[in-house]
Amino acid sequence: MEMLKGFLFAWLIAFSLATIAVAQNNQTGFISIDCGIPAGSNYTDIITGLSYTSDVGYVSGGVNKSISPIYQTNSLERPYLTVTSFPTGTKNCYTLTPNEGKSGKYLVRASFLYGDYDGTAQLPEFDLYIGETYWDTVTISNASTPTWMETIYTPSNDSVNVCLVKTDTTTPFISALELRPLNVSTYRTVQNSSLELFVRLDFGSLTGEEVRYSDDVYDRIWTPYKLSNKVTINTTQDILQNSYRVPLAVMSTAVIPDPVTATDPDSINFFWYADNTTDKYYIYLHFAELVELPETETREFSIYINDDLFYGPMSPDYLSATTIYTVTPGSLGIERYDVVINKTATSTHPPLINAVEIYRELKGNETNI
Ligand SMILES: *[C@@H]1O[C@H](CO)[C@@H](O)[C@H](O)[C@H]1NC(C)=O
Ligand SMILES: *[C@@H]1O[C@H](CO)[C@@H](O)[C@H](O)[C@H]1NC(C)=O
Ligand SMILES: *[C@@H]1O[C@H](CO)[C@@H](O)[C@H](O)[C@H]1NC(C)=O
Ligand SMILES: *[C@@H]1O[C@H](CO)[C@@H](O)[C@H](O)[C@H]1NC(C)=O
Ligand SMILES: *[C@@H]1O[C@H](CO)[C@@H](O)[C@H](O)[C@H]1NC(C)=O
Ligand SMILES: *[C@@H]1O[C@H](CO)[C@@H](O)[C@H](O)[C@H]1NC(C)=O
Ligand SMILES: *[C@@H]1O[C@H](CO)[C@@H](O)[C@H](O)[C@H]1NC(C)=O
Ligand SMILES: *[C@@H]1O[C@H](CO)[C@@H](O)[C@H](O)[C@H]1NC(C)=O
Ligand SMILES: *[C@@H]1O[C@H](CO)[C@@H](O)[C@H](O)[C@H]1NC(C)=O
Ligand SMILES: *[C@@H]1O[C@H](CO)[C@@H](O)[C@H](O)[C@H]1NC(C)=O
Ligand SMILES: *[C@@H]1O[C@H](CO)[C@@H](O)[C@H](O)[C@H]1NC(C)=O
Repeated sequence: MEMLKGFLFAWLIAFSLATIAVAQNNQTGFISIDCGIPAGSNYTDIITGLSYTSDVGYVSGGVNKSISPIYQTNSLERPYLTVTSFPTGTKNCYTLTPNEGKSGKYLVRASFLYGDYDGTAQLPEFDLYIGETYWDTVTISNASTPTWMETIYTPSNDSVNVCLVKTDTTTPFISALELRPLNVSTYRTVQNSSLELFVRLDFGSLTGEEVRYSDDVYDRIWTPYKLSNKVTINTTQDILQNSYRVPLAVMSTAVIPDPVTATDPDSINFFWYADNTTDKYYIYLHFAELVELPETETREFSIYINDDLFYGPMSPDYLSATTIYTVTPGSLGIERYDVVINKTATSTHPPLINAVEIYRELKGNETNI
């Protein structure tokens, strides 16, 4: 363990901008494709307010289909009602040409809901590539469950290619493809390698609902997550954003250890298992103090990853976002990653956390140059 220190996970910190970012609820630079709707058509989704267009012009080949009526429930987001499937050809690619080209950084999300669109009730499996890089394998395990995959991608080309690759007898398909321009100064990686989303969690949610656009100007999807033996604290005040611009709906709630049920009331911890011990993880921890503490009181804590100090001690500013993030990830060669947020000895309040994002570096030819 000792020899990995410092190498393991270098940290950095993003403080709040001096002013509250003015809400820019506009879709400048967004590419939102609802695969399978009639050629040339478009619509605005009433739930998200996002404007979708058909995939004509972004891909050649492909057949448009609707999911089976029994899967068309009212709660389903509209982009999932139709799909484009690719019964011919091994590799079929969408080409997106974002305005900022290769000088930009993009969140790219591919979404899938099988819904027995072909009436065969055969759950498909196929590979997804971004540019020349293997992205992930899409494994549909339930016809009615939406799945999506996200990368934070820095293209080496002015265009972004997303390819579906047939790997067995089943047919690749896709429900929606979305691209959002990000701030190039955020989510920085060694050698501009791309990141695949592992989890993006909103702690202490009072609504239990996902948060995305227009709450999130970058349309990241934040999933509510309950850590065991934690209680929510919340505020109705505004919170200063930093360059990560985590939405107010996410930052205005946090969790602290439950003073009654927590076995360790001074600590918040969570862990995950690496799919592959060679994987490299980037982690982004988002904090804001939500309680106005008297001068005589403090909330101070340190963050450890697998028993090594990652960052701290720190005290999040009142109503102001702080992001602690990985700069150079180490490949630990281990399966389990443990994050421990411990109260310092002198702190009068337990630790808190508002949200976390964990990404895996995409390995691939483009990223290993
Ligand atoms: C939308 O936001 C972009 C910056 O993200 C800005 O340049 C543009 O002026 C905005 N458009 C409108 C209509 O507000
Ligand atoms: C497929 O597209 C054609 C023409 O673009 C359209 O007429 C048809 O309704 C579409 N089918 C489905 C299932 O949306
Ligand atoms: C949507 O379709 C209408 C016509 O049906 C067209 O006038 C409009 O420009 C389209 N909008 C986009 C964003 O493609
Ligand atoms: C760059 O774009 C060209 C033309 O679209 C394409 O042939 C090439 O494969 C792309 N390269 C990468 C790395 O995506
Ligand atoms: C890497 O590049 C080689 C040759 O250029 C190619 O055969 C292989 O499929 C690529 N692998 C990935 C994961 O893209
Ligand atoms: C598929 O998911 C739904 C909920 O989305 C669940 O009710 C159903 O039991 C699942 N089916 C299977 C085969 O797991
Ligand atoms: C990463 O991207 C930036 C901006 O596009 C570029 O200036 C820099 O040279 C790139 N670094 C590497 C190692 O590719
Ligand atoms: C926390 O949320 C509850 C329920 O929405 C609200 O009644 C309460 O005022 C909030 N607490 C603070 C400190 O804003
Ligand atoms: C992007 O991030 C940088 C560095 O954190 C910041 O200075 C800049 O204001 C941000 N730009 C936007 C549009 O948020
Ligand atoms: C783990 O990743 C390495 C390097 O990319 C690869 O060679 C190996 O096959 C992977 N192992 C598993 C179990 O997928
Ligand atoms: C965190 O604090 C607990 C006691 O509250 C202690 O058992 C544990 O070793 C500490 N973890 C680290 C990494 O310091």
